Amino acid sequence: MLEIDEISKVIGSKTVLDGISLSIPSGGSLAIVGESGSGKSTLARIVMALERPGTGEVRFNGCAAPYKRTAAFKDWYRQIQFVFQNTTASLDLRMTIAQSLEEPLSRFTDMGKIERKERIAEYAGKVGLPLHLLAEKPGRLSGGQYQRACIAKALVVKPKLLVCDEIVSNLDLLHQHQIIELLHTLKIEQRLSLLFITHDLSLVAGLCEEIAVLKEGQLVERFASSAIHSPGHHPYTQSLLDAARSLGRAGGE
Ligand SMILES: Nc1ncnc2c1ncn2[C@@H]1O[C@H](COP(=O)(O)OP(=O)(O)OP(=O)(O)O)[C@@H](O)[C@H]1O
Ligand SMILES: [Mg+2]
Repeated sequence: MLEIDEISKVIGSKTVLDGISLSIPSGGSLAIVGESGSGKSTLARIVMALERPGTGEVRFNGCAAPYKRTAAFKDWYRQIQFVFQNTTASLDLRMTIAQSLEEPLSRFTDMGKIERKERIAEYAGKVGLPLHLLAEKPGRLSGGQYQRACIAKALVVKPKLLVCDEIVSNLDLLHQHQIIELLHTLKIEQRLSLLFITHDLSLVAGLCEEIAVLKEGQLVERFASSAIHSPGHHPYTQSLLDAARSLGRAGGE
């Protein structure tokens, strides 16, 4: 279980996150939505222990996020992996896809060479990446293939939680749909917990059980995605829903 406990962060004179508390039960899924600058990526980096909060704590299955490269650090990244918005920086351009996928296995597990090779092929298959592409460098992949490779790289260590920050924002609608479907399948097959961050509320209702809305660093509302069409949402949430509807793709329809 992931617990985000009273996280605040001030950068310069700006309160980027203001007392955010959220949780995800084992196997559960939470979407965090909010407009640009609302603090989503900052919260994601804090959950990933890539950045310290000003105050508050993140825990996974009772263990606090580690900020030093101790044994707990390795253990943390075996359990929690991420795919981030800035995808062009996710895979080393000089390495083949297979080499990129092998890197987290070497860093965070004690698996032998043959075992690693098998695991890489298994996960390329799971994310729908043709095996011949494993020998290629990232420059030879399409946007959708690249994103699948990033997801495979995050999942090869069999994490319990996957943090996704705007991972479909740069893809066309067809590829967005395919990646969401893929995450949905992985979530069910592997009991993978998901923290899915997006500015687009219409993407998440079918994928995540719960939705949290962030505005200017504050938690505006948290609700079950089954209640997305119910009346009584916070006006800000309603404005995000109206924006999604006006694009003709309101959540859950
Ligand atoms: N290192 C930093 N230095 C200064 N300001 C920062 C830094 N990191 C984040 N911020 C500020 O914190 C606020 C939240 O940024 P963040 O990237 O978390 O938002 P976001 O919700 O992910 O936005 P987007 O949807 O555009 O990705 C913004 O106002 C941003 O300018
Ligand atoms: Mg962001």
